[in-house]
Amino acid sequence: MRETFLERWKNTRVRYASKAFLTRSMAKLIENEGLGLDVVSLGELYTALSAGFPAERIEMNGNAKSHEEIELAVNSGVGRIIVDHPDELKVIEKFSREKNKKQKILIRVAPGVDAHTHKYISTGQTDSKFGFPFEVRDGSMLTEAIKYSMKSEYLDLKGLHFHVGSQLFDPEDHIKSLEKIIEVMKDLKTNLNFITHELNFGGGFGAVKNPSMPSVKSETFTEPMMKLLHSDCEKYELEIPRAVIEPGRWIISEAGITIYRVENIKELPKITYIAVNGGMADNPRFALYQAEYDAVAVKNPDAPAYDRDGGTRVLIVGKCCESGDILIDNAKIMKLEAGDLIALYNSGAYTFSMSSTYNKLQRPAVVFVENGESKLVVERQSLEDIIRGDNLV
Ligand code: LLP
Repeated sequence: MRETFLERWKNTRVRYASKAFLTRSMAKLIENEGLGLDVVSLGELYTALSAGFPAERIEMNGNAKSHEEIELAVNSGVGRIIVDHPDELKVIEKFSREKNKKQKILIRVAPGVDAHTHKYISTGQTDSKFGFPFEVRDGSMLTEAIKYSMKSEYLDLKGLHFHVGSQLFDPEDHIKSLEKIIEVMKDLKTNLNFITHELNFGGGFGAVKNPSMPSVKSETFTEPMMKLLHSDCEKYELEIPRAVIEPGRWIISEAGITIYRVENIKELPKITYIAVNGGMADNPRFALYQAEYDAVAVKNPDAPAYDRDGGTRVLIVGKCCESGDILIDNAKIMKLEAGDLIALYNSGAYTFSMSSTYNKLQRPAVVFVENGESKLVVERQSLEDIIRGDNLV
């Protein structure tokens, strides 16, 4: 991304969508890479700030921000607040007035594009809970919010934001959205004399499930978007806005491996269950989106899959008390025994960050590995952690 986006195109930024995976060391890593952070909650903001992440490189998203979240965002000096509801404007103003400052904001628009992905991770459609419908006319939500912001002494409206959906493999939906948004920029200039100085394209770039598959190149998305931005802005005589991307999964998914221990193997007629010491509590993505993963045995990652007399279906399942607690259906893996370790490839995104302690399972540890050296980044939860704050009354 640095080479193909930041260095190739002037006036660009990358904001890592921290919801995909955030720990304090991760924030540090992102800081050292020269990127910024997108946060969506008090917890994400606090985690980043507590790691000393520079506030001006943080952007606060979220469709239901609390006053407390906006207060911390304004007071800590975050670079942008991405407004998702007209009511937020007054709250941001209130806290900015108290601080006697002008808060930089963007307005999130719903581009009216139904992304080709799982319906739970498609966000750009017109009736989405996210963003302002992008209609520009007197009385429309977007027009009124822009007029209001332009008049405000405490709001500095820099531009617009959109995010079309997640886990996308081609740029079609991004391009469709961008085409519409450039039209909106044109209308805003003509009707309100509003200049879009910044445009945030959101994230959504897909990740593959296996290191032997070619990764999606981020320029598959950024090249056509940047070319379109330049050509259309020229065509409509618009200033070329700063372009910002907000990738989460693309940055972290393929960098993450989850290690499980096989507890037991149950061989039934035509079906084999390989049960491991984790499951939907640390990775709910199969249960939620039927997400696909590949796993290998740690002791021999290159071993061919064991063929259990043809038609046998092999499932890698977790230890939660649910039949839907599946990590992989139709797994292709070598013959395993209880005690073996397996590695679930490309599971860095939306796993640890979406983990729960269902069945009072302890959250796993997180380890960073580089050049054969490992560092414990998050400790495995202790039993004490499991009952922390749980008062016996
Ligand atoms: N920006 C905004 C405003 C977002 O809502 C999201 C993701 C991103 C950026 C980053 O999207 P990414 O580049 O990671 O696709 N839990 C789901 C994914 C939910 C994504 C939510 N928003 C999953 O496990 O697939």
